[in-house]
Amino acid sequence: MVEIKNLVVVGAGQMGTGIGQVALMAGFNITMVDIKDEYVDKSYANIDEGMKKLEAKGKFSEGKTAAGYMANCKKSIDMASAVKDADIIIEAVIEDMNIKKQVFKTCDENAPAHCIIASNTSTMSISEMATATNRPDKVIGMHFFNPVPLMRCIEVIYGDKSSDENIDAAIGFAGKLPCLRGDRYIAKVLKDRPGFIVNRITAPVQIYQNYIFDKAEAEGKTWEQLDNDSGGPMPTCVLADYVGIDTIYHGLKYYEKTLSPDFAPGKIIARMFNEGKLGAKTGQGFYDWSKGRPKPDKKAGKARLFKLKYPIAIMLNEGCRVLEEGIATSWKVCDDALMAGMNMPGPMAPNVNNSAKQVEVLNELVELTGKKYFEPCELLKSAKWVDMK
Ligand SMILES: NC(=O)c1ccc[n+]([C@@H]2O[C@H](COP(=O)([O-])OP(=O)(O)OC[C@H]3O[C@@H](n4cnc5c(N)ncnc54)[C@H](O)[C@@H]3O)[C@@H](O)[C@H]2O)c1
Repeated sequence: MVEIKNLVVVGAGQMGTGIGQVALMAGFNITMVDIKDEYVDKSYANIDEGMKKLEAKGKFSEGKTAAGYMANCKKSIDMASAVKDADIIIEAVIEDMNIKKQVFKTCDENAPAHCIIASNTSTMSISEMATATNRPDKVIGMHFFNPVPLMRCIEVIYGDKSSDENIDAAIGFAGKLPCLRGDRYIAKVLKDRPGFIVNRITAPVQIYQNYIFDKAEAEGKTWEQLDNDSGGPMPTCVLADYVGIDTIYHGLKYYEKTLSPDFAPGKIIARMFNEGKLGAKTGQGFYDWSKGRPKPDKKAGKARLFKLKYPIAIMLNEGCRVLEEGIATSWKVCDDALMAGMNMPGPMAPNVNNSAKQVEVLNELVELTGKKYFEPCELLKSAKWVDMK
C-alpha cells in the first residue's frame, strides 16, 4: 500500500485551503497549487493565520509551532512540476467536469506511478474523471465538508475501477486528518452515483427550496422572512450564500442531467448565478456579506412558506434510494454521515416506524409542486429499509 507523506492540493480556494490546513496539522508535507500567484498567496496566508490562531489557543502539542508547520507548506502555480513527488493529490478546483478532467490528465502525466489522485467534487462522477488518466485504479473520491477543520465527515468514494488497496490507503490517510470538533467519520461510498451519500440525501431538498424561493418572490416576501421560517444559525438563504450560489447552480445542473429534470435551477438561483451574485465569496448573494455573516432580523416576521415536514420526508425517501442503489448498505451510515458532514440529524432513525406517514407527506408534496421526483420510492413504500441497519 502506498505510504503517504506528500500531498498536493490542486485548487487553493475555500475547500482546498481547509484540506491543506488539516493535512499540515497531521504532519504531511503539502503543496498548494492554483492558476495565479495571488490565489496561492491568499490560501497560504489563510492557512498561516489559521495555524497562528490555533497556536495562540494552545491547540498544538509540546514543541509544535505554527512556523514549524508552515515550513512544510509550499505553493505553486506550476501543476506539472508541483506533483512530481506527490503520494496523493486532492483536486479541489471549481465544479466543472472539463476543468477537472484537464487537471486529472496533467496530474496523471506528471505524478509518480504510485500516486493516488482524488477529487473533492461534491457531486460529479469519479469514474468519468478517471477516464482522463492511465491509472483509473488510483483515482478515487475524497469528499470533505465545509469548513474542513470543523466538519468531521470525509466520504471516500469508489470509482468504477478504484482498487480496494487505494481506497484503504485513502481511508487511512483521511483518518489521520485532525478535526477540531471531534473524531473524523469516514464514510465509505460503495458506488459512484451523483452526490454520493450526504449530498445525494440533501440534494432533492433543493428542488423544494427552488420552489420556495420562487414562490417567496412571487408573493413579495423577503429573504429574511423566508429565513425566519426555518431559523437557526444557518437558515436556508444564509446557508445557500455560504455554500456558494455557483456551487449550488452547477450541482443542480449536474443532477438535472444525471438524476431528473426536476433539479433544473429555479428562477432565483439562475438569476443570481447569471448576475455573479454568488454569496459570501463575492460579498453579495441573497444577502450583503460585506460586514460578515448576515443575521436575519426576527422582527421582519415569517414568510410562512417553508414547512419542515417536507425536507424530512424528501431526505428519508432519498436515503432509501441511496440504499436501493447500493451506494451504502446501512441506513445508520446515512444518518451518521449526515450528522458528521452537516451537523444535521439524519432522517432515517426517527422514521423507523413511520414509513406510511412519510409516503403520505410525499404524495401531498407531488400534488403541491408537480415534481414527480418526490414520489415515494419502492424501498420506502415497502418499509424494508428498516432492516438495513
Ligand atoms: N464550497 C463547499 O461548501 C464545498 C463543499 C464540498 C466540496 N466542494 C467542492 O470542492 C471543489 C472546490 O470548491 P470551493 O468551494 O473550494 O471553490 P473555490 O471557487 O473557492 O475554489 C476553487 C479554486 O480552484 C481554482 N482553479 C480553477 N481552475 C483551476 C485549475 N485548472 N488549476 C488549478 N486551480 C484551479 C480557482 O482559482 C479557485 O481558487 C468543488 O468541486 C466543489 O464542488 C465544495
